Amino acid sequence: MEFTVAIDGPAAAGKGTIARALAQRFGFAYLDTGLLYRAVAAKGGDPVQAALGLTAEDLARDDLRSLAAGQAASRVAALAGVRSALTDFQRRFARTAGGAILDGRDIGTVICPMAEVKLYVTSSAEVRAVRRAREVGGDLAQVLAQLRERDARDMGRADAPLRPAQDALLIDTTDLTIEQAVALASAAVLARFPERTNP
Ligand code: CDP
Repeated sequence: MEFTVAIDGPAAAGKGTIARALAQRFGFAYLDTGLLYRAVAAKGGDPVQAALGLTAEDLARDDLRSLAAGQAASRVAALAGVRSALTDFQRRFARTAGGAILDGRDIGTVICPMAEVKLYVTSSAEVRAVRRAREVGGDLAQVLAQLRERDARDMGRADAPLRPAQDALLIDTTDLTIEQAVALASAAVLARFPERTNP
């Protein structure tokens, strides 16, 4: 069975938390596509060559979650050559037997426009900054400024800019608990695939 859930949205909106919960509940494979761009930037050298030669080891680095790695990722992510080098891998992953969830910026719009379920997860920049500062530390005002800068770059780039797919379900997590956000996302999966029960 092939079944793809595409989750997009701005930085630190809760995409990964929702994706991991859905993956566990429904038994889907999960790919955090942001990690690919973070790893390309961290590898250094020519970003297109880095993307073409990305290895599992590159993705296992322990310095990919930092604020600086996120900023660097959004710079290389604006390069069309980097994006196209990573497209096939993501599309193959999306067709994993048993179902797959991918989160990122262009999953519902470019990578998997035919995804059975599309979610656009967002929340206020202030709430996102508080969550990210809790995760990786750092001064709150600086974290907020960096998130805003990164969102503007991701939304403003020419190739695969961040925007909701036309048929995406919008989930604003500003005033939601994790459980409430996951419940909305689960309902969207079940609506497309009602026979899928909790394994
Ligand atoms: O975890 P967070 O939401 O902060 O970021 P991420 O998902 O790890 O993505 C890091 C950066 O990679 C983003 O700011 C985007 O510039 C880029 N990215 C992208 O362009 N396309 C994707 N599908 C995923 C990430």
